[in-house]
Amino acid sequence: MRRSEINICIERGIDFFEALSFKLPPFAYYTLDDWSGMRGEGGMEEIYDLKLGWDITTFGTGEFEREGLLLFTLRNGISGSAEYPKPYAEKIMMVLERQVTPCHFHWRKREDIINRGGGNLVMEVWRAGGDDNLSDEPFSLVVDGVRRSFSPGERLVLSPGESVCFEPYSAHRFYGEPGFGPVMVGEVSSVNDDASDNCFIQECERFDTVEEDEAPRFLLGNDYEKFLGGSI
Ligand SMILES: [Fe+2]
Repeated sequence: MRRSEINICIERGIDFFEALSFKLPPFAYYTLDDWSGMRGEGGMEEIYDLKLGWDITTFGTGEFEREGLLLFTLRNGISGSAEYPKPYAEKIMMVLERQVTPCHFHWRKREDIINRGGGNLVMEVWRAGGDDNLSDEPFSLVVDGVRRSFSPGERLVLSPGESVCFEPYSAHRFYGEPGFGPVMVGEVSSVNDDASDNCFIQECERFDTVEEDEAPRFLLGNDYEKFLGGSI
């Protein structure tokens, strides 16, 4: 993904969350100069070490509008860490109409996916087996506190306010329903480890390589080390 596209995406994300009255924390708005100016002051280690903040991916396709996701990690911890013992995580996301997040599940993470406003979120759902493949057996999920039966690949449409709980091995593919506009999606989960707890059914990249065609206006969580050095 090109840096110029990432810059535009973050500005679009800021405007989107603002329009839906979702308030981001101060570090969402830090520019590269702000970050650089704060280096050495101390106190920002949690943001740096946990890569809190912006996360934009095209899952390796380079085509953000077709297959991609804009996320902001608001809080997280590290499993088994004495320094960052938080056992929970929270993200906010922008999902565009028809913009697909490919089918995946998590071995360890339990997550509630919540439509926080905007359009409708289409979820296609499966259960994965111990062999990490999709099962063809029916299964059940809890949707806003109500346990419901699903057949493999069934569509669940979440309107604003609605949510679903994915326990480990619950596979899901999602996108914004055409005609209803982009969706603000929340995620409340157990601790999140994007480096080792995403199993994509078809191979793809969770993080894109970035082509630096212009200077970053904001930093992704993945950029902190690259632009700020080994520590903050
Ligand atoms: Fe997920």
